[in-house]
Amino acid sequence: MSFEIIGTGRGEPDFRLTNAILEKMVDTSDEWITQRTGISERRVMVDETMRDLALKSAREALKDGGITPDQLGYILFATISGEYRTPSQASILAMDLGVDCAALDLNAACTGFLYGLDMADALFQANKAEYILVVGMEIMSRYLDYTDRRTCILFGDGGGAVLLKKGNGLKAIHASGKGNIDVLNIPNVFPDTPWHKETETRNTIEMNGREVYKFAVGAFLDELNLCLNRAGMTAQDLDLVIPHQANSRIIESARERLGVSEETFINQVADRGNTSAGSIPLLLDELNRSGKLKKGMMLGLVAFGGGLTSAGAILEWTKE
Ligand code: COA
Repeated sequence: MSFEIIGTGRGEPDFRLTNAILEKMVDTSDEWITQRTGISERRVMVDETMRDLALKSAREALKDGGITPDQLGYILFATISGEYRTPSQASILAMDLGVDCAALDLNAACTGFLYGLDMADALFQANKAEYILVVGMEIMSRYLDYTDRRTCILFGDGGGAVLLKKGNGLKAIHASGKGNIDVLNIPNVFPDTPWHKETETRNTIEMNGREVYKFAVGAFLDELNLCLNRAGMTAQDLDLVIPHQANSRIIESARERLGVSEETFINQVADRGNTSAGSIPLLLDELNRSGKLKKGMMLGLVAFGGGLTSAGAILEWTKE
């Protein structure tokens, strides 16, 4: 298929919001959070901006891939928490990189980064670009009600970027959706106009955790199995699975049902919490820079999120 990853980068804020701090803010405990989610701490943007962290990630990915910004054909930016309604975060990044290529944001919530890879696949197949930058980054802390213990313990900020080049690394990719507003939503709150009186007051996350949980485990398995089928592979052919990092129990349950070892399934939700569209590119960069990704490794990527959305991909790591 159409592309391979040739570079990665990431941007993470410094401030660590630990379970101990949250214990002082809401009626919760480190024990409850750890047992139910596996999360110990999350990063929160205090002094940083998404603009700065996205630029840092993009520059690292471009340097790692050995190209200059003007070679980019597209910038796809997966986020639900961009700093402006318009311009898009992708347009701001293009401006900061000094390029005039097409740039747009994608909203598929926590699945956004994989939707971005799916879009990139289509763009490469249509010969629209030689290089595409896909970014996934969020400031989830801006959408949390820090008096609501059901949601404020789950999410963190940050993300990363991957640089894609035309190539044969991608073995299968699939994205799908199952529209549902009630299970997970963040409403817009618009100003009143002469024709519209705003009734919505909440612009924070509302979520039915149990329903999301049920959807998540099934979605992980369905997307991975579908991609494995398309690639003519079995789960045992995967060297690493990098799932969206939402909750340790979801990851562990999917791993057990897929029948692969703990070493194969990356579970690092403890350090960052759920960074939505940022979680997979963050991990890709961390694994790349720590030398854990070896040329020829077969990677499974899988995510679920608001929408509801889900997606999977199988990708050979072709980078030296
Ligand atoms: N600390 C202490 N108690 C808490 C709590 C917290 N932070 N959050 C909820 N509780 C309480 C509830 O009020 C409830 O109490 P009650 O029985 O007295 O009413 C009890 O714990 C059980 O709540 P429940 O929501 O049933 O817990 P759960 O086992 O389903 O775990 C989640 C909650 C959110 C951790 C879990 O459902 C989950 O991870 N779902 C997926 C969410 C997700 O991944 N979202 C991102 C989508 S990309």
